[in-house]
Amino acid sequence: MADQAEWVKRPEAAIAAARCTETEYDALYARSLKDADGFWAEQAERLDWIAKPSTIADWSFDPVAIKWFSDGRLNICHSAVDRHVENGHGDAIALIFEPDDPKSDARQITYADLQREVVKMANTLKTMGVEKGDRVTIYMPMVPEGAFAMLACARIGAVHSVIFGGFSPEAIAGRVEDCESDWIVTADEGLRGGKRIPLKANVDKALEKVSVKAVLVLRHTGGDIAMSEGRDHWYHELSEGVSDSCPCEPMDAEDPLFILYTSGSTGKPKGVLHTTGGYAVWTETTFRYVFDYRPGEVYWCTADIGWVTGHSYIVYGPLLNRATALMFEGVPNYPDHDRFWAVCEKHRVNIFYTAPTAIRALMREGAGHVAKHDLSSLRLLGSVGEPINPEAWRWYHDHVGRGEAPIVDTWWQTETGGIMITTLPGAHDMKPGSAGKPFFGIVPELVENDGVVLEGKAEGNLCIARSWPGQARTVYGDHDRFVQTYFSTYPGKYFTGDGCRRDEDGYYWITGRVDDVINVSGHRMGTAEVESALVLHPKVSEAAVVGYPHDIKGQGIYCYVTLNAGEEPDGDLEAELRQWVRKEIGPIATPDHLHFTPALPKTRSGKIMRRILRKIAEQEYGSLGDTSTLADPGIVDALIETRKGNA
Ligand code: PRX
Repeated sequence: MADQAEWVKRPEAAIAAARCTETEYDALYARSLKDADGFWAEQAERLDWIAKPSTIADWSFDPVAIKWFSDGRLNICHSAVDRHVENGHGDAIALIFEPDDPKSDARQITYADLQREVVKMANTLKTMGVEKGDRVTIYMPMVPEGAFAMLACARIGAVHSVIFGGFSPEAIAGRVEDCESDWIVTADEGLRGGKRIPLKANVDKALEKVSVKAVLVLRHTGGDIAMSEGRDHWYHELSEGVSDSCPCEPMDAEDPLFILYTSGSTGKPKGVLHTTGGYAVWTETTFRYVFDYRPGEVYWCTADIGWVTGHSYIVYGPLLNRATALMFEGVPNYPDHDRFWAVCEKHRVNIFYTAPTAIRALMREGAGHVAKHDLSSLRLLGSVGEPINPEAWRWYHDHVGRGEAPIVDTWWQTETGGIMITTLPGAHDMKPGSAGKPFFGIVPELVENDGVVLEGKAEGNLCIARSWPGQARTVYGDHDRFVQTYFSTYPGKYFTGDGCRRDEDGYYWITGRVDDVINVSGHRMGTAEVESALVLHPKVSEAAVVGYPHDIKGQGIYCYVTLNAGEEPDGDLEAELRQWVRKEIGPIATPDHLHFTPALPKTRSGKIMRRILRKIAEQEYGSLGDTSTLADPGIVDALIETRKGNA
């Protein structure tokens, strides 16, 4: 548990420049709970509304029905793009694009350029027949056109469903089918670390399983791809001659803005649905306070737009604040391990937001890579996606932040739409490894398994007691699943799936998932998904997948596999199974460890004892707990022997 020695003071400069001091935080936080309507109505003033909302909070967690600003009308694209141009800021830089290859030219896109590009993309989508309410799948590399496509959908009232470019054709097909999307926007190929990613070819394979009306293809690498006559259209051709005017569609605050698929403990990934008004207010407000952004600063979030971090903190949050956001196509270690720092120096980045897994990987390569670059422009650092271990926090702070720049360790989820727990740079001192304090309007509760809410210093299951504007409203097409997943464990509360402790100073420390979700390099994955992929292989009879501690990735993927009678494990089969899972889900799901076993530990009623499998994978043999209820207790010793042998 934290003691005083663990505090890291926020620098005087951060306090002096702060948008929100500690006293202001305390007052605003108190007000956000006591007068939620007044507080959020005021934040909402920062957006342009076609009709200002008179109803602010309107929600219940039991039964589950969540609305915010429900009688308001707006278009988020107007607030993120057009109004800045209308207000005379058309020349301000909206996006800086840094390509994968450092020798290629960077691009600067002003707000006026952005408006033109979004209008062009929006009218092209209209030409293809896309209408308000339609779902459009976006499977793009990290290029500005990915953001244009998202904003273009928002502009015409279509619902975007962005799929991370690392997902497989199977994963694309499943998502296209689930949300009945008739359109896909993609590129010929992506580029990452000098390698070409066959995006269009993946879409083609997905479309052997599902069909769509049309595919819009951006020419990016110029690589050779197949175009299907009548179905596939080159963006540069179809956009030729489209009108340069496209009014923003007036949207109800509760009209859907996007669907984003994310993993849970059971079943297929679910399409988390976010709506327009609340999400806009939440991303605008959190970005403004957490990053304390000032006009002219360069802000860089290294996430991919395929994840929620990219949605909220590359596209919507920054643009709603008229920020300059950097989009990076590449990877941290190409052409060398100093790429992040080279980009920070080149573009004079002021605010840098990345994931612990990247920090750990770069830390391993040594601080020399950091020292080669002038990082004096950096004034604030951020971390997101998984718990950051204090050692990585210190390295980040000392080397990247020169021991000066504060770090915001932001805890949140796809379902929360934006940041929920974090310190604010000018308001709070930091504790390495702790996310810090709740953002305005957020009431975290630590709950015991039996539902008892713990007070003060405690550890339990992290729930959120009240709704907030950015909260997901449903699972697309399956509201029961939404209710079941998030509101049935502790009725009347939103259950996050995370474990957490609160220390004597009211700081929150996320301890990781308490369900069957694992976090691999900041990518969220359901162990059930990997199991389903493995058992699809003709030689596999059964599989159980758990997470285990991994130095760089945070968690690695440990797979216990039972083969069909007569099959023998060998190196070839191991390689084949790894490849198999990559094909089914994508490279991010590649098993780190395959453990072949003739049987899995099961209770007499046939339930796999995952607790034991987790402990063995973690090499925690002394704390296996009660194994007497197992149908065959002997299997545990055999599993331990193998684990010791292959550790
Ligand atoms: O376990 C928590 C972890 O990531 C999960 C959410 O994953 P996802 O929906 O993919 O969103 C990731 C980006 C917001 C959470 O349930 N997580 C996220 N941020 C942190 C974190 N764990 C600890 N500290 C964080 N800062």
